[in-house]
Amino acid sequence: MLVFGGTRSASLSWNVAKSMKAEVGKSEIKAFPDGEKYVRINSAVKGRECTVVQSIRSNDDFVELLLMLDTLRDLGANQVHAVMPYLAYMRQDKRFHVGEALSAKTILKLLYEVSDSITTINCHFLNEGGEAVYNHIRFMNLDAMPILLGYVGSKVENPFLIAPDKGSLSFAKAAASQLDCEFDHLSKTRLSGSEVRIDMKDLDVGGKDVLILDDIISTGGTIVEAAKLIRKGHPSSINVACVHGLFLNGIEHFKGEVDRLTSTDTLDNPVSKVSVGDLIGQSILR
Ligand code: R5P
Repeated sequence: MLVFGGTRSASLSWNVAKSMKAEVGKSEIKAFPDGEKYVRINSAVKGRECTVVQSIRSNDDFVELLLMLDTLRDLGANQVHAVMPYLAYMRQDKRFHVGEALSAKTILKLLYEVSDSITTINCHFLNEGGEAVYNHIRFMNLDAMPILLGYVGSKVENPFLIAPDKGSLSFAKAAASQLDCEFDHLSKTRLSGSEVRIDMKDLDVGGKDVLILDDIISTGGTIVEAAKLIRKGHPSSINVACVHGLFLNGIEHFKGEVDRLTSTDTLDNPVSKVSVGDLIGQSILR
């Protein structure tokens, strides 16, 4: 097995290769002055099984991945696995308004065209890990919540789990059972792409280590609003953990509002302390 890393997931791909005891594939990736991507595979791949690890956070990441996967096939790789630890566009899995693009379907369909298997982590529109079929496309959705919680849970003494909205309730429930603690959810109304309103309910969080869990933190608007309200209940600490930390407004945005912020390394950021390398490696080996 050869493991290639795209530019978005270069260091994570090393962890994946290490976990699989696999060779790291050599490639050259750059951008032309006009922004077009250039990809060259420098390892001999004919007849070999290859995995490409590349989170998709931007459109450029996606084009780079498509070029890598298709080139590996052209060069005669016998199986090509596409692993997108973070896969963007999964929030548009339904047509919420007439005429909208079904982005999740289009992205998965294109990946399916150029690979033999598709793996992602905590896909936004799914509530649990395992094999999934969406619009006739089969893919693996790994669940990084248990390893994330294993890490965060070891840092707090008296946890009280909170999901920021009803949508996150199912994994908050599972997380509360892993940590053997109480849990609840807030009620969130999205006002715009960057603004949310959170309605407070009576939460008995006094003296507790609140742990707010979400799959994605994007602007951070949801978490900061939630933390402000929860602080009024005098918890002993507010801890926030997410699988995919985009942190579009930077980590500073959380200063003073949150005591501990943690994410996995599906995306590199200053708090990506929990590696999903083994989770991916062991799943591909299976
Ligand atoms: C929403 O359904 C997700 O689980 C997150 O709560 C959301 O994407 C977070 O967005 P933001 O950080 O911009 O509030």
